[in-house]
Amino acid sequence: MERRFEGKVALVTGTTHGIGQATAVRLAAEGALVAVNHRPTSDPTETLERVRAAGGKAFPVAADMRNPEQVLAMVKETARVGGRLDYLVSNAAINPLLKWDEITLEDYDRIQETNLRGTWVVCQAAAKQMIREGHGGAIVCVSSISAWVAAREQTVYCATKAGIWMLVKALAAVLGEHGIRINSVLPGAILTNMSKELLNPDAPARKYYETRTPLGRIGAPEEVASVISFLLSDDASYMTSSELLVDGGFITNAE
Ligand SMILES: NC(=O)c1ccc[n+]([C@@H]2O[C@H](COP(=O)([O-])OP(=O)(O)OC[C@H]3O[C@@H](n4cnc5c(N)ncnc54)[C@H](O)[C@@H]3O)[C@@H](O)[C@H]2O)c1
Repeated sequence: MERRFEGKVALVTGTTHGIGQATAVRLAAEGALVAVNHRPTSDPTETLERVRAAGGKAFPVAADMRNPEQVLAMVKETARVGGRLDYLVSNAAINPLLKWDEITLEDYDRIQETNLRGTWVVCQAAAKQMIREGHGGAIVCVSSISAWVAAREQTVYCATKAGIWMLVKALAAVLGEHGIRINSVLPGAILTNMSKELLNPDAPARKYYETRTPLGRIGAPEEVASVISFLLSDDASYMTSSELLVDGGFITNAE
C-alpha cells in the first residue's frame, strides 16, 4: 500500500467498530501514527491489534464525545503523544431507531450531543491545535445519506447528519486561510454494528437496499475508509467544503 501519511499524526473518533476502526487501520497502513479514540468504557484492544496486523502504529485516547472536557483533553493528548496533529476524522455517532412521537428530550440530547456537538467540539479543538502548530492539516467528518434523505425512525439522527454536512462547509470557509481542508463523506448502507439488521441476508431491509442500490449490494467499512483516506491525502489537495457520497448510487436512483 502507498504510504501517503508517513511522519503524520491522525486522530480518529469512534474506532472500536465499523467505519472508524477500518479508517484507523487504513491510515496507519498508509504510514500515519493514529490516535484511536474510544469511550472510557469501551476497549480499544481489537482496533490496536488490527492496526498492528496491518503493519501500522497507533495509540489509544479515551474520551466520550458527549463530554467536551474529555474531548479537549483527547486532542491535547494526541498532539503530546504523537508530537503533532495533521489529520482528524470525526466519525463517532449513534443512531438509535426511534419513532418520532416517542422521542424524549433525553433521547434528543443524547443523539445531538454525540453526533453534532461532539463533531463541533473535536473539529474546533483539532483545528486550533493545527493552527498553533502552523503546518495546515485536513479534516474529514462522517455525515450520511441521511443528511439528504429522510428515514422514518431516524428523525433526530437525520438532522444531526445534515448539521454535520453544513458545519463542514461553514468551517471550510474559515479554515482555508490556515491551510486546513475539511470535507465530508456521506455513506449509504454499510455493514457495521449500526446497521446490524442488514447482517441477515434474508432481512427485508437488506433486500430493499440490494434492490434499490445500483451496485446491488451493501457497502463494507473499508470502502468508506479508502474514500476518507483519499480526502485526507494530498491527492485531494484542491478539495475543501466538499462531500463525497459513498452509497453505491443508492440515493440518486429513483427506481
Ligand atoms: N453503517 C451505516 O450504514 C452508516 C451509514 C451512514 C453513515 N454512517 C456513519 O458512519 C459513522 C460510523 O458508524 P458505523 O456504521 O461504523 O457504526 P458503529 O456503531 O460500528 O461505530 C460507531 C462508533 O462510534 C463510537 N461512539 C458512539 N458514541 C460515542 C461516544 N459518545 N464517544 C465516543 N465514541 C462513541 C462507537 O463506540 C463506535 O466505535 C457514524 O458517524 C455513522 O453515523 C454509518
